[in-house]
Amino acid sequence: MELLSYIKSHEQQHLEELKDFLRIPSVSTKAEYKPDLQRAAQWVADKLRASGMDLVEIIPTKGHPIVYGESLHAPGKPTILFYGHYDVQPAEPLHLWTSPAFEPSVRDGKLFGRGTADDKGQVHIHLKALESLFQSSGSLPINVKIMIEGEEEIGSANLYEFVRSQKKKLAADALVVSDTSMLARGVPSITYGLRGLDYFQIEITGPDKDLHSGVFGGAVPNPITILCELVAQLHDKNGRVAIPGFYDQVDKIPSAERKALNALPWSVKEFKKTVGAPAYSGEKGFTIVEQLWTRPTLELNGIWGGYTAEGSKTVIPSQAFAKFSCRLVPHQDTARIARLVEAHIRRLLPKSVKCNFAVHSTGKPWVAPFSHPYFAAARQSLQQGFGKKAVFIREGGSIPLVTQVHDVFKIPCILIGFGLPDENAHAPDEHIQLENYFGGIRSIALFYRQLASL
Ligand code: BES
Ligand code: MN
Ligand code: MN
Repeated sequence: MELLSYIKSHEQQHLEELKDFLRIPSVSTKAEYKPDLQRAAQWVADKLRASGMDLVEIIPTKGHPIVYGESLHAPGKPTILFYGHYDVQPAEPLHLWTSPAFEPSVRDGKLFGRGTADDKGQVHIHLKALESLFQSSGSLPINVKIMIEGEEEIGSANLYEFVRSQKKKLAADALVVSDTSMLARGVPSITYGLRGLDYFQIEITGPDKDLHSGVFGGAVPNPITILCELVAQLHDKNGRVAIPGFYDQVDKIPSAERKALNALPWSVKEFKKTVGAPAYSGEKGFTIVEQLWTRPTLELNGIWGGYTAEGSKTVIPSQAFAKFSCRLVPHQDTARIARLVEAHIRRLLPKSVKCNFAVHSTGKPWVAPFSHPYFAAARQSLQQGFGKKAVFIREGGSIPLVTQVHDVFKIPCILIGFGLPDENAHAPDEHIQLENYFGGIRSIALFYRQLASL
């Protein structure tokens, strides 16, 4: 059967199969789900066989397994390495989901469930594109290596190890990833830049125990007040990060690129609707698109301490905590930024408290040219698959493995995302537009077929 007819006639079957994948609660950060990660890995391995892979392995790691598959039967044709993740973020807060996170359901042309957009739905697009190529013509037009991990949402530490030690096995002409977003509905997109990440936690300790705030209040340091004073000093009035040296290694964006990014069919109105805040803030001197994609940030992710349960409790807490993170851009160095942040925080803190500072995870920023002919093929396939013009964008999220592969193999990295910024990745009611799921399968199948003709 012809490729696109095969895809069209299997839409319902593909969708039902994706729902099975989504029912497995593969939350990588929680120990209680370990068996579900194992199950998800097994599920992916089984589907890889159906997609024409003849070598399929579940590779155990110190954490969750990596699933690897390959089909190398197209001599003289390109070899791609596809990367994705089968782990998902926790579903909490559960009560904010319209339908349960792990009971996928279709409403309004959208498929809801944890992992629909990030990243199970997008991984499934590739599995079904390959299966469609394989089933409709009896063989795959290119050589394919597939690596699906279960620890992306917790920093990919074990995958780095795997990539470093398996250079020969993983060697390819290009990396292909679908774990990003489209610029907007009807605008298929290829992402050529991502921000990096440094994730921190601090623990401020004042008194060595909780104290009665009447008996002791007024004479002792309050760690929550001190933490709040500290975090209030981390930005200046212009929305810039007030850490000396923070911007030293930030690349200036060439004016041609700045122009191109600001000319994209991106709507401030849509952005504001998605965010829903009464007003907007950000680093002065940059447009929102530039702020999101090309500028580094420091954001508080969580702050806690003292009594927060029902009613009142008059207490001076012994400790206060914060989680915060920096998004980084080329060519900021993750280790250098961590040192600058820690040194600045220690300088700002008064002697009345102790501070424990931890770096949770780091990932390098990435930006690369998109002049390789594979990018033109990707753009054409997207245009054919969606019937819409495709664009090149940068994004603000982080996929540290991309930088890693780029550094190790020096190959083009082609990031074709099928999520949308308002699809609630990491949040309640995560979903994917079915038009993008099906359009994704068509585009990726066409892309892989087109690579064979280059
Ligand atoms: N798929 C996202 C990254 C992403 C989202 C890139 C949207 C571009 C656009 C990925 O699963 C993710 O959430 N990454 C984490 C970093 C990781 C080290 C925990 C992130 O960006 O916070
Ligand atoms: Mn992801
Ligand atoms: Mn994610």
